Amino acid sequence: MHLPLAFCYLLAHITTSLARSPDEWRGRSIYQILTDRFARTDNNLTSPCDVSKNEYCGGTWKGIEQKLEYIYDMGFNAIWISPITKNIPTGYHGYYQTDLYALNENFGTEQDLKDLSDALHERDMYLMVDIVTNHFGSVENDPSVDYSQYYPFDDESYFHPYCEIDYDNQTSAEICWLYSNLPDVRTEDQNVIDAYSTWISQLVANYSIDGLRIDSVKNVNKASMPPFCEAAGVYCLGELSNNDPDYSYPYQQVLNGGGIINYPLYFSFNETFIYNGFSSTEKLAYNIYLDRNNSIDSNFHGTFTENHDNPRIACHNPDMSVAANAIAWTILTDGIPIIYQGQEQHLAGGDDPGSREAMWLAENGSYDNTSQLHNTTAYLNQIRTWTVQHSEGYTHYKNVVLNYSDTQIAIRKDVMRFILTFAGVGQPRGTYTTIGGGFSPNSSVVDVINCKAYTANSAGEVTADVGGGAIVVMMQADFIKGSEMCGY
Ligand SMILES: *[C@@H]1O[C@H](CO)[C@@H](O)[C@H](O)[C@H]1NC(C)=O
Ligand SMILES: *[C@@H]1O[C@H](CO)[C@@H](O)[C@H](O)[C@H]1NC(C)=O
Ligand SMILES: *[C@@H]1O[C@H](CO)[C@@H](O)[C@H](O)[C@H]1NC(C)=O
Ligand SMILES: *[C@@H]1O[C@H](CO)[C@@H](O)[C@H](O)[C@H]1NC(C)=O
Ligand SMILES: *[C@@H]1O[C@H](CO)[C@@H](O)[C@H](O)[C@H]1NC(C)=O
Ligand SMILES: *[C@@H]1O[C@H](CO)[C@@H](O)[C@H](O)[C@H]1NC(C)=O
Ligand SMILES: *[C@@H]1O[C@H](CO)[C@@H](O)[C@H](O)[C@H]1NC(C)=O
Ligand SMILES: *[C@@H]1O[C@H](CO)[C@@H](O)[C@H](O)[C@H]1NC(C)=O
Ligand SMILES: *[C@@H]1O[C@H](CO)[C@@H](O)[C@H](O)[C@H]1NC(C)=O
Ligand SMILES: *[C@@H]1O[C@H](CO)[C@@H](O)[C@H](O)[C@H]1NC(C)=O
Repeated sequence: MHLPLAFCYLLAHITTSLARSPDEWRGRSIYQILTDRFARTDNNLTSPCDVSKNEYCGGTWKGIEQKLEYIYDMGFNAIWISPITKNIPTGYHGYYQTDLYALNENFGTEQDLKDLSDALHERDMYLMVDIVTNHFGSVENDPSVDYSQYYPFDDESYFHPYCEIDYDNQTSAEICWLYSNLPDVRTEDQNVIDAYSTWISQLVANYSIDGLRIDSVKNVNKASMPPFCEAAGVYCLGELSNNDPDYSYPYQQVLNGGGIINYPLYFSFNETFIYNGFSSTEKLAYNIYLDRNNSIDSNFHGTFTENHDNPRIACHNPDMSVAANAIAWTILTDGIPIIYQGQEQHLAGGDDPGSREAMWLAENGSYDNTSQLHNTTAYLNQIRTWTVQHSEGYTHYKNVVLNYSDTQIAIRKDVMRFILTFAGVGQPRGTYTTIGGGFSPNSSVVDVINCKAYTANSAGEVTADVGGGAIVVMMQADFIKGSEMCGY
């Protein structure tokens, strides 16, 4: 009689202790996967995929599982996958759902998803799943939407009447429709909040999910977010594409201390370093301070420089050193790094849907783990992971900008000082001093990217050799002892 009860209690206990809080995500590094475009179960490397057609190309959860080694070898310890719910036929990206309780069969079965989750956890990797609470998808535009096809919201009364969004009006952004085929859910109604919360808690439990990425948060009633994140019991990462720090960062409060996909930082980074504008480093530096000043904790935001909704860096700037520096920025700056699939293969797709290329069709052979950027990404993750494990303060530390110019930025992050250069491989060599860097006076310092040894002066500053598109990452020699980096 008592055994089953005790067993249930134990299970409940285990489930609770495995729920991954924002704190447990601090040291994670995320690889973003667009499920349909990452890997096929049959591993057919010539199967066509025309991004302009908005059709399924055949990527699956099994495909991801079979390629986990490729991701793991790059040093990632978490993945974010596309929404998993059943979609209308053009919903290859997962954002046009029709039924919360049915899986997208193009991506696989319930067992496949559980297998993927297990395979990740065996490697101590986390699973982040994308969810959509703002809208459902419809083949027909308003007013011809067939609401009876939806589950559990199988009636028009669960949705707002159609209206076009006026983005200068927050109410309009929340209650109007993103497009005329995306019925907007009434997330201000308690019965809808309850239904979504039930679904979210089951989803997280059924597939042992460690974190949620929540789509279009700025288009959803703010008050619904705390109950959703509460139901999830795991780290919530909200997406809101907006360049205004004052508008964006306060959303951290309704995400129960999780974070946002850091668009304000992305926009200023893009303007500063990718578009050869090189005129707004000051704005980037300023935004770094806004980020740390206005967030509950800027280290809970997801830092990125590419994703499936925006043009890739190589689309505008083909320079390999710029690509490498952008990856270094993503992985080393404040926040939880997110590298989008294909960034490590220097893919160059343009605006959505251009940046949704099939990985198996990549230029120099699919899943090439010998490519320069795969190697760079792996090494940067190795540097970050070592630092996370050996300096308690690292993932709490808020970046300090030491100096910047139009093409360079020097940053202190805890035990690390890094200098990034965005003028391209042809850039002349020069020197850069880590003013106010604060290494121990006269200590041995190593640039672990170029394996160059320096000695700090009596003020703890180092004058580093930079240029030619170099990345410089300096740490004291005593800190990296045993890491095998540069033979230490
Ligand atoms: C891979 O897909 C292509 C295009 O659909 C097809 O022609 C080819 O036969 C497939 N290869 C294998 C080994 O199945
Ligand atoms: C590349 O993949 C091969 C085969 O899985 C593996 O043996 C090798 O260690 C990998 N190399 C890197 C740098 O990840
Ligand atoms: C904002 O949008 C809502 C919903 O469409 C509308 O009712 C309201 O009048 C708008 N407010 C302003 C100031 O335009
Ligand atoms: C979770 O699993 C239970 C038991 O199999 C099932 O009844 C429920 O529908 C599942 N919920 C979700 C969201 O997958
Ligand atoms: C990046 O910056 C350029 C130059 O300001 C701008 O034209 C472009 O729209 C920006 N891209 C994004 C995604 O913001
Ligand atoms: C951030 O806070 C620091 C210290 O309080 C202050 O000096 C700085 O001006 C602030 N920066 C911004 C952009 O708010
Ligand atoms: C493909 O390989 C060529 C020759 O090695 C190289 O020049 C090019 O940069 C590579 N392209 C990518 C996307 O890595
Ligand atoms: C990067 O490539 C070099 C040279 O092939 C290799 O020695 C090193 O182990 C690679 N680094 C990582 C982190 O894969
Ligand atoms: C700081 O950056 C400026 C360019 O903005 C540069 O001229 C100066 O040399 C740098 N200072 C040091 C100490 O490196
Ligand atoms: C650092 O070196 C300078 C010059 O050799 C010396 O004067 C100073 O005492 C040293 N500082 C420390 C803290 O060892």
